[in-house]
Amino acid sequence: MSVLPSTSLCGGAPAPVVRTRALHVVPEAASLPAVVGAGLRVPTLSGDTAYANLDHAASTPALETVRAAVDRALETYSSVHRGAGFASRLTSAWYEQARAEVASFVGARADDSVVFTRTTTDSWALLSKALPSRTTVFVFGTEHHSTLLPWGRFRTVRLPVPQTVEDARALLEEALNDHPSRHRLVVLTAASNVTGEVWPIERFATLAHDHGARIAVDAAQLSAHRRIDLAGWDADYVAFSGHKTYAPYGAGVLAGRSDWLDAGSPYLLGGGATRSVTEEGTTWATGPARHEGGSPNVIGAIALAAACATISRHRDAIEAHEEQLLERLTTGLGEVPGVELLSIFGEDHDRVGVVAFTVDGWDSSLVSQVLSVEHGIGVRDGKFCAHLLVDELLEDPWGERSGTAVRASIGLGSTLEGVDRLVSAVAGLVAQGPSADWTLTESGWAVDGTDPRDVEVERPW
Ligand code: ALA
Repeated sequence: MSVLPSTSLCGGAPAPVVRTRALHVVPEAASLPAVVGAGLRVPTLSGDTAYANLDHAASTPALETVRAAVDRALETYSSVHRGAGFASRLTSAWYEQARAEVASFVGARADDSVVFTRTTTDSWALLSKALPSRTTVFVFGTEHHSTLLPWGRFRTVRLPVPQTVEDARALLEEALNDHPSRHRLVVLTAASNVTGEVWPIERFATLAHDHGARIAVDAAQLSAHRRIDLAGWDADYVAFSGHKTYAPYGAGVLAGRSDWLDAGSPYLLGGGATRSVTEEGTTWATGPARHEGGSPNVIGAIALAAACATISRHRDAIEAHEEQLLERLTTGLGEVPGVELLSIFGEDHDRVGVVAFTVDGWDSSLVSQVLSVEHGIGVRDGKFCAHLLVDELLEDPWGERSGTAVRASIGLGSTLEGVDRLVSAVAGLVAQGPSADWTLTESGWAVDGTDPRDVEVERPW
């Protein structure tokens, strides 16, 4: 991994790296890591209840280890690569160690770059700007808009939503054969944000490389649940977000081959991204600094590193917990009459804990409001910023349906009780309808009487 030297990037004396160490030698833990807000209670029509968090695909809560790492880093918070004081040296060292932790989390090769960004969306915007000119980008209609759109209409070859993995491979192979060009990039999600289905990245990486193309992997929905393995997959780039990886402090990541990143336009022009600036011109840095202009979000980077370290340490326990909840969720929903689970490759395909479903005869937005107001359950409804995919999956057979779905997504903030509550709430809705009177207003579904969520809560600041 290429890392920044611990020197002042805008000139000044080089700062030696502060020697730091991990707090403890930590073996793999059998227990689940704790999340902040695990005891949250929320208001419902029948009084307050434990919050059933089934919305991890949108944003995950913070881990307690992440909060602790941030609190500790704030004690000595200072500038990164811009100061000679002890606090700045320590903060700079932690920033680079956070980069190394993330490199290990994604299984990066020694010469890969690991750039801190804000989100997956930001990572793709960066990569898009750094692509060699006239790169052709291949992307399936299954993708989240952040992965579908940033490459620009004229250099993107849009592939249809496939029905099987073999179909997807055939579509991609045909497109690669039909669009020869010097630089080509396949962009593919590791796990769908709509259906949770896992794509066999290695097989698509082999296909891309056999045709001289590179592959970039959207791991936004994988990072909290399964191992990312850039080198093992033989993929070229990977992106993911802290806010979906138990580290909601504004950092994301783009990791991968450094040649295009070092040759491409710097993402943010400014201090830190330059090597030298004279009246004659500017020489830009190479390595991650090239794309990290401005003072970096070191707290976000430390938070993300803490999350990566914790997830890696509890990997087996996390996967076992999610597998159990997912099985309960899919089996339970599958037994409710009129409930259909959305799927690209078929219901038996491997998936992370993300399940989108429709309830025959019930508007998805009403279902999610009923779940929240009557049962204290948090889910998301709509098209999940993946309009092409949801439109394709909901095409027919119920002409009157709204074209949207409800999505329940599992993580460390979810419990078996919460999953059971969701299944029984959906079953109750189908059998008896909602308990309250609901009206469709201009701003959405409204409960007759006062919405119990309209409570006055003190601001956190
Ligand atoms: N991309 C996030 C989601 O799928 C926000 O909900």
